[in-house]
Amino acid sequence: MAKRKIVKVGDSVLREKAKTVTVFDNKLSQLIDDMVDTMFASNGVGLAAPQVGMLKKVAVVSIDGEEIYELINPVVLESSGEQIGMEGCLSVEEKTGYVKRPYQMKVQSQTRDGESVIFDVDDFLCVAFCHEIDHLDGILFIDKIIPDYKED
Ligand code: CO
Repeated sequence: MAKRKIVKVGDSVLREKAKTVTVFDNKLSQLIDDMVDTMFASNGVGLAAPQVGMLKKVAVVSIDGEEIYELINPVVLESSGEQIGMEGCLSVEEKTGYVKRPYQMKVQSQTRDGESVIFDVDDFLCVAFCHEIDHLDGILFIDKIIPDYKED
């Protein structure tokens, strides 16, 4: 387990599409463990593999610092509703903004052992999943900020 260096905005790796994970080995587990360490050490609620320079469809999310979600090759099956909330990103320092996201989603994913798993997420957990899945497509939250948005 080790903390890895977080890539910052401007690096092209954040703009590329991550590749599907096909090998579920110790190296993958090591990457996931390191990403969890890096996320917690940086006080983040999520981290995607491109943010540590790895173009693999891997992301981790933990919005309460306890329950950890590991997303490998995630696919959004369904989404509904909408919510607008403030976001930030460990790769985009000192910038936040309001982004519109679905309120709930059903996401198909794989575990670190390659087993299929489905997550039903809503509220802020859904925001975190959306943000991290976007990273795997080379999309950053700054692309989606609603200009001049003010909360009611
Ligand atoms: Co981010």
